[in-house]
Amino acid sequence: MASYDVIVIGAGPGGYVAAIRCAQLGLKTACVEGRETLGGTCLNVGCIPSKALLHASHMLHEAEHNFAKMGLKGKSPSVDWPGMIGYKDDVIGQNTKGVEFLFKKNKIDWLKGWGSIPEAGRVKVGDEVHEAKNIIIASGSEASSLPGVEVDEKIVVTSTGALELPKVPKKMVVIGAGVIGLELGSVYARLGTEVTVVEYLDAVTPGMDAEVQKTVQRMLKKQGMEFIMGAAVQKTETTKTKAKVHYKLRKDDSEHMIDADVVLVATGRKPYTDGLGLEALGVELSERGQIKTDDHWQTNVKGIYAIGDAMNGPMLAHKAEDEGMAAAEVIAGKSGHVNYGVIPGVIYTHPEVASVGKTEQQLKDEGRAYKVGKFSFMGNGRAKAVFAGEGFVKLIADKDTDRILGCHIIGPAAGDLIHEICVAMEFGASAEDLAMTCHAHPTYSEAVREAALACGDGAIHS
Ligand code: NAI
Repeated sequence: MASYDVIVIGAGPGGYVAAIRCAQLGLKTACVEGRETLGGTCLNVGCIPSKALLHASHMLHEAEHNFAKMGLKGKSPSVDWPGMIGYKDDVIGQNTKGVEFLFKKNKIDWLKGWGSIPEAGRVKVGDEVHEAKNIIIASGSEASSLPGVEVDEKIVVTSTGALELPKVPKKMVVIGAGVIGLELGSVYARLGTEVTVVEYLDAVTPGMDAEVQKTVQRMLKKQGMEFIMGAAVQKTETTKTKAKVHYKLRKDDSEHMIDADVVLVATGRKPYTDGLGLEALGVELSERGQIKTDDHWQTNVKGIYAIGDAMNGPMLAHKAEDEGMAAAEVIAGKSGHVNYGVIPGVIYTHPEVASVGKTEQQLKDEGRAYKVGKFSFMGNGRAKAVFAGEGFVKLIADKDTDRILGCHIIGPAAGDLIHEICVAMEFGASAEDLAMTCHAHPTYSEAVREAALACGDGAIHS
């Protein structure tokens, strides 16, 4: 029986980061992972492969739509699907091997197999039981199921199957206009698939700023995606090669059907805790199956911690990473901390969508006085030079103190621009602080500064 200070269960971004931080802090650490490669959903079948396909399909879109505008002539590239899948798999391989290298460098033992916790202080992997003073559960999440919709990962797929289709489908129906639906839907739309998104609510990207929601939907429509809003999918029927998706419109309860070659089910994810033995241990779960923890990521069972998608909060890789580092620090006797008020969210469509902090709606609900500084990328020279003038930065600040409360961006490199706001918020900055900071010209970041200026005496270029 091997003995460790910490055993982490799961080697996704939460788990592998927790393991590395534990090892860096001098704790003898092992990480259990049953997949053939490290990196979890994010590196193997999520964030990273989808970004590879988003990049490749964006390049095609640029060639088809913008090259001629820039005086670049010639035949547009065509899609070599096996080649594109090969590129995506290479990217996965580089990243998962990178984590393996980091494990070796930090002397972390990879316990290969699926772990369970027979009792506090013990982790079982295969036939072997290991001793662990502390256990961090970082077992992640899985696609949640939809009644009447049977996933076969061939015709009716989750994001995992959508990253491995044997060919580019002619018609795809996406159930759910959340992050996965829009990102993967836009990949296939750019590759020439007729994509129809069927969404239960009246707006895409639930919880986001209302203006951002309208703008992203309008821009994706322009790229050829169709949207059926206010529609609840009831069931799917499949033959060997096709599917029928039945849905009901909420406004009048009328029933409809739409055909597809592939149906992507993107209606949310749920914690994956099967087989860990949590029930027998008495680890408390919420009604939604999330592991309950205290403020230091410890469950109600001493020495057992949980982080990432398996516990509550947004299901985001970077939130899991932060929790992984913080839990490791707590175990090492330091003061781990996560500021849940400053966790950015990014959707990697084109243009990108990014947000952090409060939305206007949240502030209205809280009855808080705020002001908004908005700046359109139309007034940003750099954005116009690359056909990215649509979209905007919306900065929200406290009406009295000018302290930044949130920011919502749709536009070029939004996912990178948002971090200027994250840092500002961590430092408790005001909109004026941002407005007084010199920003290089010509950059997209100037649009962030202009939005900050718009919170005060006014933006210059609008
Ligand atoms: P989501 O929760 O973002 O969106 C699901 C959508 O499905 C909602 O708009 C919901 O109203 C709709 N829906 C549910 N039932 C329906 C029905 N019967 N008929 C029609 N529509 C229905 O979930 P999604 O996109 O599956 O993502 C899962 C998780 O993965 C999210 O927590 C997300 O944050 C995370 N993720 C994050 C990424 C990123 O940060 N870029 C990328 C991919 C996933």
